[in-house]
Amino acid sequence: VKTIFSGIQPSGTLTLGNYLGAMRQFVQLQEEHHCYFCIVDQHAITVPQDPKTLKQNIRSLAALYVASGIDPEKATLFIQSEVPAHTELGWMLQSIAYMGELERMTQFKDKSEGRKAVSSALFTYPTLMAADILLYQANIVPVGDDQTQHLELTRDVAERFNKRFGETFVIPEIRIPDVGARIMSLQDPVKKMSKSDENARGYISMLDTPKQMEKKIKSAVTDSEGIVKFDKENKPGVSNLMTIYASCTGESIETMEKNFSNKGYGDFKSAVADAVLETIEPIQNRYNELIDSKELDDILTKGAEKANKVALKTLQKAKKKMGLLR
Ligand code: TYM
Repeated sequence: VKTIFSGIQPSGTLTLGNYLGAMRQFVQLQEEHHCYFCIVDQHAITVPQDPKTLKQNIRSLAALYVASGIDPEKATLFIQSEVPAHTELGWMLQSIAYMGELERMTQFKDKSEGRKAVSSALFTYPTLMAADILLYQANIVPVGDDQTQHLELTRDVAERFNKRFGETFVIPEIRIPDVGARIMSLQDPVKKMSKSDENARGYISMLDTPKQMEKKIKSAVTDSEGIVKFDKENKPGVSNLMTIYASCTGESIETMEKNFSNKGYGDFKSAVADAVLETIEPIQNRYNELIDSKELDDILTKGAEKANKVALKTLQKAKKKMGLLR
């Protein structure tokens, strides 16, 4: 049995990319492993957030975790800001990570580009992420492929700490899904699908209405060839829709190419829309039951209790190793 940790930011609603790239793996992993799943609200505040909206997004993400199949009997689900050890260890790891390392992070470059005011927390974000993972001595971190660089930094920082102060942290490994590690924008399929896209037609939100989802898929950018074939380079739009379909139905690319060989994009898009709706609708139904329930609060309270216990133990150990405390 391995220990798993992963987190999702409560910034805007979850997209189909977050679900297929990350959350769906979580649901499978909880069956055999010791899992911690986190709503990383301290990460979300590295860019400006409206307090009221943030609060709603935190709760909404918690409900989506459970609605997607995270079982609180099997996995620990909690809110990062309810476990103070994260920011404490994050600070300590800032003394281990180098400016140069953080400057190389592409997520920082992307998110800071063109902004007038960039918070210092956006810059040190990866050290907090390292703390999230290391506090639980996680062996495996399931994420989409955009988090690879952050995971490498986490490993480097953990190794450096262990070398300097003695064995303290488990060195985690990244796990990226074979299909769906990078779902692309429906409007600009060479860019990843992102909830911060200013064009809402580029992404599917897990809380879009069935009509909205269908419309977005039907107006997805493709090409003029009219052949359903997987070719990321030359047919990024069609290939992305094929990945979405494969990811939702479990069907192979080869089978799909065969089945759609004499059909046009219209039929193909309808099939993709059906597959997406079939995946998301049950999640939405469960979400609606949960969102205002006391059940959800109980899950989060219990989750924070459990997480605090485990995290505090590692935090104490790390403090002692560094020579902090009395
Ligand atoms: P975030 O909140 O941006 O995304 C959550 C998860 O969704 C994956 N993802 C995607 N997968 C496939 N296709 C896409 N278009 C797509 N967009 C996003 C992400 O890779 C991620 O797995 N830094 C993290 C949050 C974090 C974290 C952690 C993750 C904080 N601490 C500790 C793991 C462990 C982030 O910004 O994810």
